[in-house]
Amino acid sequence: MIKRILFTGSNGQIGSELSRAFRKIYGNENVIVTDIAPNSKVADDHYEQLDVLDADRLAKLVDTYKVDAIVHLAALLSAVGEQKPQLAWNINMNGTINVFEVAREKKLQRVFVPSSIGVFGSTTPLDNTPQDTVLQPSTMYGITKVSGELLGDYYVKKYGLDIRGLRYPGIISNDTLPGGGTTDYAVAIYYDAIKQGSYECFLSENTMLPMMYMPDCIKATTDLFQADFSKLKHHTGFNLAAFSVTPKDMAASIRKYIPNFTISYKPDFRQAIADSWPNTIDDSAARTEWQWKPNYDLDTMTQDMLKVIGDKHTKGLL
Ligand SMILES: NC(=O)c1ccc[n+]([C@@H]2O[C@H](COP(=O)([O-])OP(=O)(O)OC[C@H]3O[C@@H](n4cnc5c(N)ncnc54)[C@H](O)[C@@H]3O)[C@@H](O)[C@H]2O)c1
Repeated sequence: MIKRILFTGSNGQIGSELSRAFRKIYGNENVIVTDIAPNSKVADDHYEQLDVLDADRLAKLVDTYKVDAIVHLAALLSAVGEQKPQLAWNINMNGTINVFEVAREKKLQRVFVPSSIGVFGSTTPLDNTPQDTVLQPSTMYGITKVSGELLGDYYVKKYGLDIRGLRYPGIISNDTLPGGGTTDYAVAIYYDAIKQGSYECFLSENTMLPMMYMPDCIKATTDLFQADFSKLKHHTGFNLAAFSVTPKDMAASIRKYIPNFTISYKPDFRQAIADSWPNTIDDSAARTEWQWKPNYDLDTMTQDMLKVIGDKHTKGLL
């Protein structure tokens, strides 16, 4: 039975909220949060500074805390990865193999490591992108995510390890700001809508991308984490979808609540990355193998985002 779980990259956009959700399920004392940063953004208990490239320290922490499972979130994301491709390769690949190796050596019960829609490229069918399809990404981030999926599947087959992963779409949230991905506009647009009533978007108005609200990201991750491994046909790269939107759709959704909201477009280098990613995703394998179903669509998310960020603004917290 899994009792104690160690998070890497826990200060990030996803880790800060996901680790809180895991604490509720597994108990505060059973979730060890780690990040390369000296201090935790989440809570001070059970925080350890850990660079995932330091395999010895990772192994020591696993022993010290009697860890059963790892949620491995430390990574460089797509936009930062294009600016620092060698560093992205190093952190994303060597960090991941360090986690798989400690899981193998210490016989850990489970590893969760996210993949991304970044595994797809312009040779993939971009509409209703199938689960099992061509994976020829053009970014270093995508290359590391495809390699991570393959490496994870190798450890499942070769060593019988339990490794699971999801191809997250762009994740939208209102707690920790995103760390440098191509879908970051979909968070910034809500903050700027509240703060100044306008937003300049770095993607063009009709760029459609798959997105998901953080509560659904947490639901998907905890559901897959707890799924019966023997029922999974796929392991490290489940397609996952909630809704697909363009910046224009988002602006229209915001205007339902802030009628005077305006948007302008100034595409930058991230446009080429977005253009190589799918418009819509077929996530039927996740729906069949572990009964995935999202709760939020664009408008229910917009309503909640504007309420939470609006409240923060009123309290002077932005
Ligand atoms: N946020 C998204 O929209 C999204 C979409 C698809 C996939 N993902 C994946 O989900 C995971 C988490 O993403 P996120 O959005 O929370 O990223 P993020 O950039 O917000 O957080 C990543 C965290 O990793 C830490 N980190 C960086 N280098 C490290 C190192 N060497 N050792 C330890 N920690 C290190 C950073 O300090 C940061 O806190 C990543 O694998 C990412 O590829 C995220």
